[in-house]
Amino acid sequence: MSATVLQKAQNEFRKSLIGWYDSNARDLPWRSAPSLYKTVVSEFMLQQTQVKTVLPYFAKWLARFPDFKVLAAASEDEVLKHWEGLGYYSRARNLHKLSKELIALPSIPQDAKSWQIFPGVGPYAAAAISSIAFEAPAAVVDGNVVRILSRLCGDATPFKNSTDAAKAYRELSNDLLNRERSGDHNQAMMELGATICQKHNPQCLLCPVMNLCEGKRMGIEEELPILDKVKSINKSVDRAWIIDGGKVLLHKIPADAKRMKGLHELPSLEQLQFKAPKTKPILERKRSITKYRITERFYPIQAKSLPDSLSKDFLWATNAKLKTLTFSGPHRRWLEELLALEN
Ligand code: ADE
Repeated sequence: MSATVLQKAQNEFRKSLIGWYDSNARDLPWRSAPSLYKTVVSEFMLQQTQVKTVLPYFAKWLARFPDFKVLAAASEDEVLKHWEGLGYYSRARNLHKLSKELIALPSIPQDAKSWQIFPGVGPYAAAAISSIAFEAPAAVVDGNVVRILSRLCGDATPFKNSTDAAKAYRELSNDLLNRERSGDHNQAMMELGATICQKHNPQCLLCPVMNLCEGKRMGIEEELPILDKVKSINKSVDRAWIIDGGKVLLHKIPADAKRMKGLHELPSLEQLQFKAPKTKPILERKRSITKYRITERFYPIQAKSLPDSLSKDFLWATNAKLKTLTFSGPHRRWLEELLALEN
């Protein structure tokens, strides 16, 4: 393609995309009366998470933590409680840390690079936040954008993983960015990926850039992008269900753990240095998290077989207390199932 033809195609892409967004953008709460705070909270919540899942959390979050100052002043336990069930809890802890850092700054950075100094803000969030809140000229590249652009180019290059694919599309994303409306352009890309250029059954006939799409012309749009399959790894965790005097034994995940710090769980047999009993578990559940397929088994254990003293990470919780503590979504469900078996 000659430079002029390419320039023309890029202009047409920008124009068609923004025109489509102006008449089709979903009415989302972080888009009406936008603010830096709403932008940051929504971008943190929307990482790895769909809009429909985020909506109720976003509303409750804003009611309790209306701005950076209120959020910074809250306890980490309360912040985590408001994130309960949304998953990837480091996002909540990082958002909390970010508010503390931000309110201590003499001025708020407005460019994408500076936003990457904040905890939990990688290239994607930095581009999204700085472009939406300050019109910074930074293009977002995530799975949605890779899907749109690999199809647009009819690019059947196999990528090892999504990080490599994102790197490969960084330059094209920036070339295509509509610099007069970078925030809306980025949101339009996200919107196109979420509502039209979906992984399966893309709605090409409704797509504002179908005529520019090489993948569609070649008839291979649904096969793109080509990403290596992630090998899943099977794991199992055996856990203890111990009730004593109406209280359940829990483990609070310590601050030096890799994941889920500050959340509660039913203790694993390993944490209690018990061997798995020969009996059948009273509950067995499977779940997937990233590349892991985990089987969780729950064994009833007598409180009297516990050691005399337990470390400070263990606690006994009444029914009323269980409601106030924070669990991951799956843990909350299993806990309710186990309590129902008791009655
Ligand atoms: N995904 C990530 N950021 C988004 C936004 N601002 N609107 C819709 N979906 C998104």
